[in-house]
Amino acid sequence: MAGQNPTASKTWNNRWTFMLAAAGSAIGLGNIWKFPYIAGQYGGGAFVMVYLLCIALVGVPLLMAETSIGRSTRLSPLNAMRKLTSDSGAFRGWEIVGWMGMFTGFIILTFYSVVAGWAMSYAWDLLTGTFDGMNASQVGGEFEALTLDAPRQIFWHTAFMALTVYITARGVHKGLEKGLQVMMPTLFALLILMLGYSMFATGNFMKGFHFMFDVDFSKITGEAVVAAMGQAFFTLSLGMCALMAYGAYMPANNSIPRTALSVAFLDTLMAIISGLIVFPIVYAHGLEPSAGPGLLFVSLTSAFANMTGGAYLGFAFFVLVSIAALSSAISLIEPTLAWVTERFGMNRIAATIMIGGAIWFVGLGSVLSFNHWAEVKFFGKTIFDLSGYVTDVILLPLGGMLTAIFAGWVLKRSVMSQELAMSVGMYNLWRFAIRIIVPAAVLLIFYTAIFK
Ligand code: PHE
Repeated sequence: MAGQNPTASKTWNNRWTFMLAAAGSAIGLGNIWKFPYIAGQYGGGAFVMVYLLCIALVGVPLLMAETSIGRSTRLSPLNAMRKLTSDSGAFRGWEIVGWMGMFTGFIILTFYSVVAGWAMSYAWDLLTGTFDGMNASQVGGEFEALTLDAPRQIFWHTAFMALTVYITARGVHKGLEKGLQVMMPTLFALLILMLGYSMFATGNFMKGFHFMFDVDFSKITGEAVVAAMGQAFFTLSLGMCALMAYGAYMPANNSIPRTALSVAFLDTLMAIISGLIVFPIVYAHGLEPSAGPGLLFVSLTSAFANMTGGAYLGFAFFVLVSIAALSSAISLIEPTLAWVTERFGMNRIAATIMIGGAIWFVGLGSVLSFNHWAEVKFFGKTIFDLSGYVTDVILLPLGGMLTAIFAGWVLKRSVMSQELAMSVGMYNLWRFAIRIIVPAAVLLIFYTAIFK
């Protein structure tokens, strides 16, 4: 089969590979680092409820649409959009979805790598005993010291990008599959272990639990809704064509709806567990849930610093977080990489180095925004904050909305119904969601973000 038909040879032959790659893309810093800290900033329960609604009503239908678009063409996202546009006799401008996806992935990775670098740095510091016996405020001081230390952050940012380039260049199949098969279950096991710690050793589990699940409707502000929706896109890797790129390698006999549901479920589970680990520790150490981007690093490290064997457990934990970030980073490059190799016939290794190098360079801006360039602000935000804001609030929702409109209104009906292969009732439900709910939800957050 391989060798004769170039598309067939690119298809992953194991039916679990897509699932693993898609879950690897979805599960990352978004779940373990970002979810707890924004849930903390927006007051917990109300935010979590809106977030869960966004996952179910907007995320799942869109996950199915993106994957289908990729699989039906077996091309890079940009060329997939081009082909489907011309097949449907539609306006050529729809290819903007492909261009935007590449651009968005680029921007996300510039700051994502910096945070992943923090995780690597923490793994190292825990192992070497830097945090041993420190109390929460000393651990907090260390976090601040790290963000103020540009060379140290650049070192870890470089290490993370180098790893990303190395694994991506080897190909998603060879580079990723073997590793993920071991790492994802280990990460899960370690999270369960930490959950046990939060439950039984902090004495604050119920307090954390209530913070996450007690819904105080007065806290559902426009801003919280915007943040919850942005987070839903981010955590499921939606709106920037990552799953389109992976969908292109998905075997034809895999069920897209079933896979999409499993990925969304696993991703949500990981986020909820992370929250249930973080908040009880936050309370146990007298920290504030709304502490911001340092929340995971300060809270968990305070716990590791004061438990027997904490240095090793903490090391293992942050190594696994780095690996979860790595499998997401690869999917942030894939849309651009797939297109560059298709378009210019460039070899995968050279293309990865080029793209990774450019991302690394722009990422320096995010590193510096914590120290030397802390005063450099655009619209009142540092480079790091702005990159996160623009992707969460504008680029991902916009990309997602355009993809939904394209899949629901523009694309020939047969493409989606064939890829999804669902019963008529389920298909109609999906179609209603993709045509009406997704675009309406995104328009609502744009409206809120602009006029509120
Ligand atoms: N979903 C990833 C995470 O939660 C981040 C990501 C966003 C990856 C968009 C790919 C595309 O960490």
